Amino acid sequence: MSTLLELHNVTKRFGPVEVLKGVSFSLEAGEILGLLGDNGAGKSTLMKIITGIYSLEGGEIIFSGKPIPYPQHNPREARALGIEMIYQDLALAKQQDVAANIFLGQEPTYRFLGFWPMIDKAKMETAAQAAIARLGARIPSVKYPVGQLSGGQQQSVAIARALTFNPKLVIMDEPTAALAVREVEHVLDLARELKRQGISVILISHRLPDVFAVSDRIIVLRQGTVVADEHTAQTSMNNVVAHIVGAH
Ligand SMILES: Nc1ncnc2c1ncn2[C@@H]1O[C@H](COP(=O)(O)OP(=O)(O)O)[C@@H](O)[C@H]1O
Ligand SMILES: [Mg+2]
Repeated sequence: MSTLLELHNVTKRFGPVEVLKGVSFSLEAGEILGLLGDNGAGKSTLMKIITGIYSLEGGEIIFSGKPIPYPQHNPREARALGIEMIYQDLALAKQQDVAANIFLGQEPTYRFLGFWPMIDKAKMETAAQAAIARLGARIPSVKYPVGQLSGGQQQSVAIARALTFNPKLVIMDEPTAALAVREVEHVLDLARELKRQGISVILISHRLPDVFAVSDRIIVLRQGTVVADEHTAQTSMNNVVAHIVGAH
């Protein structure tokens, strides 16, 4: 295995509040890391630093062997490096169809009458179909408006879109929070499929059984500090809960 991501002593404050107090951990290529912690522990802030929404204050982050250049780092640079984040609200255009969402902003075009650039709808639908199939996702049709799909299916669309950017790391922040129980398994399968394709995953979830089912390693963040970093096979839910609530 090779190391994809290394955080060294990352700190961040919002005004007087020290949200991250020197966070260090590393992530291997093709590893699924479960990131756990109570509300307000700093999980989302940490991920937004990696994706360039926030800058870090102190410390260093190495991605693919190179330090991420803060404060210039931004979401577009993160994408170019191979970092994708699936947000809780998924950031999809609900009225538009599946194909349009997967290729939003990078639609294949042709020149009508050799001049006017037009979106090549047929090509886009074929490519969208292929992207969905590659994920093993089940979607009735790529012509369906995304808003009419179930939460789990929308999650598949967001991941299929992320995959068009050839990511090395996909961050999923609470992907199963709003899903029906039978849909959760499907999202966990998507995480496993990313791993199978050699992509690293950071999964944030409050649902311990989900994290235990898919992760290789678990990190617990408490009040901006890493309080546990353990191989999933070598820990237990009781142990992890104790770290989350601070009983250790
Ligand atoms: N943009 C912001 N401005 C000020 N405080 C923030 C901001 N984002 C997060 N925080 C604060 O940082 C702390 C960590 O939040 P967050 O990273 O969202 O935690 P988690 O995702 O683990 O629930 C919380 O106390 C939250 O109120
Ligand atoms: Mg959060």
